[in-house]
Amino acid sequence: MHDLMIHNASLPDGRTGIDIAVRGGRIADIGHQLGGKSVRTFDVDGWLVSPPFVDPHFHIDATLSRGRPRENLSGTLLEGITIWGELVPTLTHDDVKDRARRLCYWSAAKGCLAIRSHVDVSDPRLVAVEALLELRREISSWFDLQLVAFPQNGYYRQPGAIENLERALDMGVEVVGGIPHFERTMDDGTRSVRALCELAERRGLLVDMHCDETDDPMSRHIETLAYETTRLGLNGRVSGSHLTSMHSMDNYYVSKLLPLIREAELFAIANPLINITIQGRHDTYPKRRGLTRIREMLAEGIPVALGHDCVMDPWYALGSHDMLEVAKMAVHVGHMTGVDDMQAMYESVTTTAAAAMRLEGYGLEPGCHADLVVLQASNPIEAMRIQATRLQVLRRGEIIASSRPAESRLCIGGAEVSVDFTERNRPADADQS
Ligand code: FE2
Repeated sequence: MHDLMIHNASLPDGRTGIDIAVRGGRIADIGHQLGGKSVRTFDVDGWLVSPPFVDPHFHIDATLSRGRPRENLSGTLLEGITIWGELVPTLTHDDVKDRARRLCYWSAAKGCLAIRSHVDVSDPRLVAVEALLELRREISSWFDLQLVAFPQNGYYRQPGAIENLERALDMGVEVVGGIPHFERTMDDGTRSVRALCELAERRGLLVDMHCDETDDPMSRHIETLAYETTRLGLNGRVSGSHLTSMHSMDNYYVSKLLPLIREAELFAIANPLINITIQGRHDTYPKRRGLTRIREMLAEGIPVALGHDCVMDPWYALGSHDMLEVAKMAVHVGHMTGVDDMQAMYESVTTTAAAAMRLEGYGLEPGCHADLVVLQASNPIEAMRIQATRLQVLRRGEIIASSRPAESRLCIGGAEVSVDFTERNRPADADQS
């Protein structure tokens, strides 16, 4: 006897008419016309059923703080860092926790059930670390929150950062962060990558560094990150986030760099919403697009995940934590409007992001957690096109969020017309996906 049977699902890989059987919070079986009794059943009417969205790069300690203590008038990275520096000493345990919890509600409602968040350890009080570790425990039944110890003001550049970061790891933060391009010199950046990778190796932790988030083509800390990963045998456990300097690098150098990244089995994590607005600010025209080389890395066999990075914080006043918005921005900024490229960007906010976070039991195979999102779309491309309504979000086989289907009604010339912007809504002779 199954606990739940979902009928008539379309899957992200293109299969249609699929049943999904759930037992004990996990997928028991998935395929056409499954038999067996079930306590509950529901028919999803051919809509897309996807594993949940995953955000592998976020700053949940800063989220929803927009306007405190003041607005970012220039919209620049540097003004954002200054504002954040003013806000940090005033943070309280409850404030951090309340904002982060609210963001997780928003995220879950949008079908995202896992976030890897960097948490700033530059404040010696470590108020945010404590608050987020507590929140992580409290929400673990419905949300996976993974934390990165992030020395926002530099590992060597800020006095005390080394000790703060170690204390955060002692408290239970499970990923080692870094920001080599923000250290005082290139050499300090290189040393910080080495020291932080060695720290992760000693403690058996993952690594995720803000790496080369700059327009300077000579910012090449990703090369060191790949080297140290290979040297220390950390393959598959290290992510390089942002990597925007690669956008501006010489093509010949990149042709040498990409095989080194692949050899180290690094994950690249791009943040298109933020980098399209933050990068290229010193350019006149033409202005650089502020995105790493996603297509080229995918072609090289390097897994590329996408992160949201910010929602309503000192750096970015926009956002609702919708990973479909992230994927859609990557499609646009990265010239990735080919069908296979768009499909790859959907994977970047689902399966690839889950792999970067090493989430256990993620996916649509038998044995995986029954964590599922039903979207008002027929396929991943349509989901991105209309940022489809998340009709139901399931965690361990239970519905934890639901939304009414999007529908607008027009009354024109006495006749009523309904539109929902989906492919089903096209006139019959054009209805071919
Ligand atoms: Fe970031």
